[in-house]
Amino acid sequence: MSACVTQTTVSSICQSPTKGPVASMRRLPDKQNSPYVLSLLGKGGSSKSTTAIQLAGIASTLRHRVLILDTDPQQSVSRWRSLRPNDGAVSSHFCRPQDVAARVAQAGKLGFELVVIDNAPVRTEASDSIARLSDLSLIMVRPSMLDLVVGLDWISWLNATLCPFVVVVGAAPAIRQGMEAPFMRQTRVALAAEAKRLWKGQITFRHAIVESVGMGATLMETDPAGPGASEFCRLWNDLIAELERVK
Ligand SMILES: Nc1ncnc2c1ncn2[C@@H]1O[C@H](COP(=O)(O)OP(=O)(O)OP(=O)(O)O)[C@@H](O)[C@H]1O
Ligand SMILES: [Mg+2]
Repeated sequence: MSACVTQTTVSSICQSPTKGPVASMRRLPDKQNSPYVLSLLGKGGSSKSTTAIQLAGIASTLRHRVLILDTDPQQSVSRWRSLRPNDGAVSSHFCRPQDVAARVAQAGKLGFELVVIDNAPVRTEASDSIARLSDLSLIMVRPSMLDLVVGLDWISWLNATLCPFVVVVGAAPAIRQGMEAPFMRQTRVALAAEAKRLWKGQITFRHAIVESVGMGATLMETDPAGPGASEFCRLWNDLIAELERVK
């Protein structure tokens, strides 16, 4: 697990225009008995649960054993999981934020290679320890003024912890003729101070995502060749590269 004592200054997350196959996670030496941990943070409704589900779906497609820890009293991921068959492809477990460390340790003993933590939209007394045990935190931001304000607050808090993180814009307006929507460009300007950590891609608002999640599925199951899955796979590839880089 990440000791979180040094924060890398130059991030590769905004340098790699990922194309080609979806990358598997390598078991680095310090990851032989403990899972990689990704933690989703951000304002209410910023796409944390949706992104946790899609990243877990990609991990599962790659035959990685993946567990989503649902720490949000709203239990969005747990409700989604209850719609799925018990085939073990994606496991989820609801727990209190203060129990995350114990659950991650247990997940390692059970052979999980990846734990994705879906956090509630507000900080708790356990938020600091969750950030420290996470290999990488993702701050999800929607391109709207109200979301940016809260996103900047999460950025400033995570900067103070010195823990590695990236900022991902989700539910964004569609790219047309290769151009990001004006408000997406304004969002990048608003986040310019964190340009090193801002993911170069975007997750576009798509009804296919809503429909897929509503069926208890992931895009890798319902539309693996579609543009939505492609965006999440690009994010996955860049996160894997970042995880290996911050180790
Ligand atoms: N890329 C997207 N395309 C379409 N709908 C999306 C997308 N991302 C999120 N949504 C929808 O936006 C709503 C909020 O998403 P989600 O529940 O993932 O956010 P959250 O950050 O987990 O919210 P909360 O803080 O309440 O837990 C949901 O209805 C979800 O289906
Ligand atoms: Mg949620």
